[in-house]
Amino acid sequence: MKSTKILFICLGNICRSPAAEGIMKKLSEGFPIEISSAGTAGYHIGEFPDPRMRSHARKRRYELISRAQKFDPTTDFDTYDMIIAMDDSNFRDLQSMDRSKKYYHKLSKMTDHSQIKKVDHVPDPYYGGPEAFEQVLDILEDACGGLLKKLHSQTQ
Ligand code: 4NP
Repeated sequence: MKSTKILFICLGNICRSPAAEGIMKKLSEGFPIEISSAGTAGYHIGEFPDPRMRSHARKRRYELISRAQKFDPTTDFDTYDMIIAMDDSNFRDLQSMDRSKKYYHKLSKMTDHSQIKKVDHVPDPYYGGPEAFEQVLDILEDACGGLLKKLHSQTQ
């Protein structure tokens, strides 16, 4: 079976999208899904996720070991089946790189997949305290579960 390739997108690729990647990798073990993440900005290319994000994730048994990379419109739009943005700014940046709307059907926001959480974006925790990182993980666990259910129902 062909695997579904998912790319999570945030700004810096050191907080939200690596956490989404780590959570989704764990939740989807055994499913034909390939997962990666990237940032719309390149400030942190090559870095591990933010130590605060890693430590909060580790308490929930997620090891975040990705290295930051910048979204590459010349290859990533074609490579991935689903490109999932954390907030409206990331979403708009992706749309602006897809002027012809060729890849519009691949784009969504993480919170489009939420199950319980009534939120419309994953807030940037970078300048926040510990509770901001916990809130990100809560939203991501809920939305990754919803995403997995959708993917699962499509293969039934
Ligand atoms: P992320 O968080 O987009 O969730 O990775 C941020 C990381 C770094 C910066 C902003 C947001 N920054 O300005 O360096």
